[in-house]
Amino acid sequence: MISAQPVAAPTVMDGDVVCEMVVNGEPLKGVAEPRTLLVDFLRHELGLTGTHVGCEHGVCGACTILVDGQPMRSCLMLAVQARGAEIRTVEGLATAGQMDALQVAFHEKHGLQCGFCTPGMLMAGTALLEQNPDPTENQIREFLSGNVCRCTGYMGIVDAVKTAAARQAGASTNGHES
Ligand code: FES
Ligand code: FES
Repeated sequence: MISAQPVAAPTVMDGDVVCEMVVNGEPLKGVAEPRTLLVDFLRHELGLTGTHVGCEHGVCGACTILVDGQPMRSCLMLAVQARGAEIRTVEGLATAGQMDALQVAFHEKHGLQCGFCTPGMLMAGTALLEQNPDPTENQIREFLSGNVCRCTGYMGIVDAVKTAAARQAGASTNGHES
C-alpha cells in the first residue's frame, strides 16, 4: 500500500474545517474549505494523487473511490461529507508492494488504460467483486458502465475482472490463489 504523504501541519483559516477520516486503513486528518471536493482533498491535502479527475461533474467515473465500501464519485462529494468515513483509494489496493488480484489481472489481460480512467476502473471493479464475487459478463459490463474510456473496447477490462473473480474463487476454494 502506498501511504498518504501528509503535508506539514495545515494552517486552519477562518471557515476551514478539520476533516478526519480513515484512508486505506490509516487514520488521517486534514483541513478543507467547506466547498473542497473530496477528490481535491485526497490529492492536494493528503497527497494521494492516484485518484484522478476527469470530467469533474460525475459523468466519467475517473474519480471513483470506495466510501464505507460503496463506490462513489469523489468529485461529487465534499471533503466535509466524508468526515468519519472509511475511504479506500487505488493506493490501498496493493499490499506490501504486491498488486492485488485485480491489478495483476488488469496487467495480464491488457485492461490497463491511462492513468485517468484506470484508477476508477480498478476501484469500481473492486466494489463489484466485493458485492458479487462471481459476476456474469453482462453484470461486469453493467457495473463498469459508469466508468468511461473512449479509447478502449473494454474487452481487456472485462476479461481482467473475470480473471480476478475466477482466481479469487479458486483461492477461497483451495486456500491459495491459482
Ligand atoms: S471526475 Fe468524477 S465522475 Fe468524472
Ligand atoms: S480515458 Fe483513459 S485510456 Fe481512455
